[in-house]
Formats: sequence, structure tokens, C-alpha cells
Amino acid sequence: MDFLEIMRERKSCRAYDPSKKVTREELLKIVEAGRLTPSGCNSQPWKFIVVDSPEAKEKLCDALVLENNVSGAPWRHQVPAFILFVEQKAKVMQCVVDHYGNTQRFAQGDLGAACMNMCHQAFSMGLSTCVIGMNDQKKMEKYFGIPEGNEVRLVLAIGHSAEKSSFAKVRKELKEVCSFNFWE
Ligand SMILES: Cc1cc2nc3c(=O)[nH]c(=O)nc-3n(C[C@H](O)[C@H](O)[C@H](O)COP(=O)(O)O)c2cc1C
Repeated sequence: MDFLEIMRERKSCRAYDPSKKVTREELLKIVEAGRLTPSGCNSQPWKFIVVDSPEAKEKLCDALVLENNVSGAPWRHQVPAFILFVEQKAKVMQCVVDHYGNTQRFAQGDLGAACMNMCHQAFSMGLSTCVIGMNDQKKMEKYFGIPEGNEVRLVLAIGHSAEKSSFAKVRKELKEVCSFNFWE
């Protein structure tokens, strides 16, 4: 499949077939796409925690519930596997710290890039994904032994789609998001 075609065809999946498992081999292949992702100063400020056991998934499903019982992933119980993206303190060049005043200037972008590489790798393997942006950090620390302050920035749901996606790909027009040589 052409690369741009993969970009066009991948869609977030919010209905998974819980009877179709994702193997560890598949999960590790997906993680490999994240591990190979470029990062600012090559600092690789991430830890990827794969969650695939029933017990760990139950805990994760609870950590995806926010105030007032709201969750960005009401469909989370059907998902065969997840990957947590935990931000680490980045080892960046001194000039980055001098200029921006902290080490984490690139870190969220780095994790986002790793996450999208994993999404597209999964898609190329016939699997579906959805990024989940919000979680309860305190529960994440408690359930998964994550050292305090190491933020779980993203969670990626991975599995086999239970239905053909009814969500159309909605994007701003090219001319709205892109200009040449000057702000427009
Ligand atoms: C950082 C981030 C957080 C997201 N969080 C959620 C979420 O909590 N729940 C959800 O259903 N989708 C979530 N999404 C999926 C977006 O809604 C989706 O990518 C967007 O609507 C574009 O649709 P597409 O992925 O099908 O192209 C998230 C995506 C990103 C990149």
C-alpha cells in the first residue's frame, strides 16, 4: 500500500471485536515502530507499557474513567490490548535547556510521533487503533508502578475492528492549513 494511502485509509476505531486477540508478536512489531521513531536530540523520552492481560486491562479501564464517571473511551472494555505512552525526563542538549528553560520542549511531540507510527504500523498489519488522550494519572501510577510524575500522555487501543468505520475522515482543506513562504 502506498504510504499516503495508509494515511488516508487509517481511521480511529471505537468498536472492537473482543473475541479476536492481538498476539504478543504483533504487539512487539507495533512497539518497534514506536521505538524507531525520531525524537528531539534523540532523547527517546518514552516508556511503552503494553497492557494485554485481563487483570491489567481491568485496571486500565478504571484509569480511563475521569471525573463524573466520564471516559474518552466508553468502548474500552472490548479492546484486546493497549499501549501506554509514558513521558520520561528528556536528555537534551544544553542549548535546548538554555533557550527554552526546560528539558521537555520536544517530549510531547516525540510521544505523539511514536504513537502515530504505531497506529500506522498496526493499520498496515490489518489492525485498528484509537488514541485515548485522557486518563487518571494517580491511578496509572498506582496500578502500573509508574514512578510519580512520569506522565501517561497517551493510551493507544489496539484490536480488530468489529464493524466498518462509519466515521468519515474529516480534515481542514489544504489551503486552510498550508501556505508557502509566509503566514496566510
Ligand atoms: C491526542 C489524541 C487524543 C485523542 N483522544 C481520543 C479519545 O479520548 N477518545 C476517542 O474516541 N478518540 C480520541 N482521539 C481520536 C481523534 O478523535 C481522531 O483521531 C480524530 O477525530 C480524527 O479522526 P481519525 O483518527 O479517524 O482520522 C484522540 C486523538 C488524538 C491524536
